Amino acid sequence: MAADQRRPKESPADEIGRLRALVAHHNRLYHELDTPELPDGEFDALVRRLRELEADHPELASADSPSSSVGGAVSATFAPVVHAVPMMSLDNAMDADELSAWGERLVRGLDGSEAQLVCELKIDGLAMSLRYEAGVLVHAATRGDGRVGEDVTANVRTIADVPERLPAGAPEVVEVRGEIYMPVSVFDALNREATEAGDRLLVNPRNAAAGSLRQKDPSVTARRRLSMWAYQLGEVVGGPEIASHHEALEFIASLGFPVNPEVRVVEGLDEASALCRHWQEHRHDLDYDIDGVVIKVDGLAQRAALGHTSRAPRWAIAFKFPPEERTTRLLDIQVSVGRTGRTTPFAVLEPVFVGGSTVTMATLHNQDQVRLKDVRPGDLVVVRKAGDVIPEVVGPVLSERPDGLAAWEFPSVCPCPVESVLERAEGEADTRCVEATCPFQRDQRIIYWASRGAMDIEGLGERTVAQLTAAGLVADVADLYALTADHVESLEGFARVSAEKLVGGIDGSRGRPAWRVLTGFGIKHLGPTAAQSLATALGGVREVLEASEERRAEVAGVGQVISASVSDWWSREAHRDLVDRLDHHGVDLSVSEGPSVSDLPATLEGRAVVVTGTVPGHTRESAQAAVLARGGTAPGSVSAKTYALVVGDGAGASKLTKAESLGIPVVSADRFDELLESGEIPT
Ligand code: IVH
Repeated sequence: MAADQRRPKESPADEIGRLRALVAHHNRLYHELDTPELPDGEFDALVRRLRELEADHPELASADSPSSSVGGAVSATFAPVVHAVPMMSLDNAMDADELSAWGERLVRGLDGSEAQLVCELKIDGLAMSLRYEAGVLVHAATRGDGRVGEDVTANVRTIADVPERLPAGAPEVVEVRGEIYMPVSVFDALNREATEAGDRLLVNPRNAAAGSLRQKDPSVTARRRLSMWAYQLGEVVGGPEIASHHEALEFIASLGFPVNPEVRVVEGLDEASALCRHWQEHRHDLDYDIDGVVIKVDGLAQRAALGHTSRAPRWAIAFKFPPEERTTRLLDIQVSVGRTGRTTPFAVLEPVFVGGSTVTMATLHNQDQVRLKDVRPGDLVVVRKAGDVIPEVVGPVLSERPDGLAAWEFPSVCPCPVESVLERAEGEADTRCVEATCPFQRDQRIIYWASRGAMDIEGLGERTVAQLTAAGLVADVADLYALTADHVESLEGFARVSAEKLVGGIDGSRGRPAWRVLTGFGIKHLGPTAAQSLATALGGVREVLEASEERRAEVAGVGQVISASVSDWWSREAHRDLVDRLDHHGVDLSVSEGPSVSDLPATLEGRAVVVTGTVPGHTRESAQAAVLARGGTAPGSVSAKTYALVVGDGAGASKLTKAESLGIPVVSADRFDELLESGEIPT
């Protein structure tokens, strides 16, 4: 960080002092106030640095260093509960080397003998201890500082996963521990409701779960629909003999608690490592957040032999995934304009490496989202990039906000050179540029025409389109077909070969099937699927456009709304003109089915494939069209009849959850082509 580079070199004592204050501050924000400001990864890095320094400088050790406490202190609002058995923390391994180092320590600690291990998901929620006496829940306590937690019984009683009573024969006293979490689908739903109501958004599921447990009114907690995975026993009086962790989990399940189905008993660290890699890749396949994999020694006798340090057991380690949230500076908020004039605010960020790539821009969706998140240019912001999902700004770090930072105002004019007026219609979330001649909209329309899901013209991307329009060579998609290699060669970055290649690509698109031409117009509501149905039923481009509204609406999968939108588009003179000019430039408007459709094997004949999110290289519509082209159907929702669910970027969790509950195979976007090709579910 730039600030670190400017800081004069600190003495170890100074650095330790600074880090202790920083860790204590963020620890309090996280554990007591439920308002974390640092992503977990950055907080962990601070603690690790502090521990490193303290290990190198034992003379600077201090009993009250926050590095040795395991969490927050007890907050004043809820009654304290002393844990009968302390709730410990876990040591972390940040990579494969640290994991092997733990494995070696294990072997040494067990005098060379092998240990059977259990791998569990590290649920990103809140640790909870539930105490039952005579089979009845007597209290639910947070971890607090590990020794004393907070009594949140009234709130926890509202959680459906937490039994109020245990089955007959339960031990006299039993403490069951686990993680309380908010399912991602619930988090998404609550945030959708908050957006509609204009309320502040929940930051992430963990934070939302913590806030929900801290409610004074349990009915508020109840509405947050929290869940639990149980993973440990605390004090047990009068229970069965248990020799291993997996037996403990079986016992916990027999008492009626949800135990995570992904728990695996493994023979060695290699197998455990493979599971860590698997879950790092598949963490977003689940309806709950995980931030790592916990590896635990199974045998309780071996655990006792290994013992623990002041804060964490030696018999367990948390393999942590690389962070998906980081902080960075919000340099500016700008607005982009789409082909229909819809504007989208986006964040311009100081580059930050997060979720596996460097992020410099992130969407802010719309005006209300900017307001609800209250992000301002100049803020330090938390950026999240989860899996393949597009990066987003989670929110500002308020404590770091520079004084006098002004709230961002949505611009009143379009950022294009024409500076046309932006309008937001009553009741709409989007602000639009309503000037049809807006050059930004024009460029986007041309880009869309050339995109894979429409005319599929290689090499005609954003930059080239901007060059062509700026040079006055192209004003609409018909002009593309009048371009020569000489024209293109005059543009910066082009030589003869590349110019000829582009013109060749444009030329090749003259024979595309009608559905692609129709899709390329970008008519509201008319995606490739409906365009294909129309072209199959009615013939060429003109036949579709000139058909009566009733006739089009009769075509299966089309209906009134799409048909009316086509009529509206076709009623404009400029659009009739455009079609004439395309015709004139030799674009074949009569190809009702192209070879790309008819020559494809019907690998998905009669099979329903649901596509959610975007599949790289496709628009949602073109992915659906690809399924149709292979004889399948592409419905919008998952049902028992669904053959497969394809999950792409930015997919919400609800379809996935439903597919999982119905046992429908889930195919990741990068295996989509295999599914199309063979019709089989890729394994
Ligand atoms: S075992 C002594 N198992 O991670 C071992 N913890 O960083 C105590 N956590 O406080 C914890 N998933 O809140 C364990 N499967 C899992 C877990 C898990 C999440 C949390 C828990 C704990 C924290 C330590």
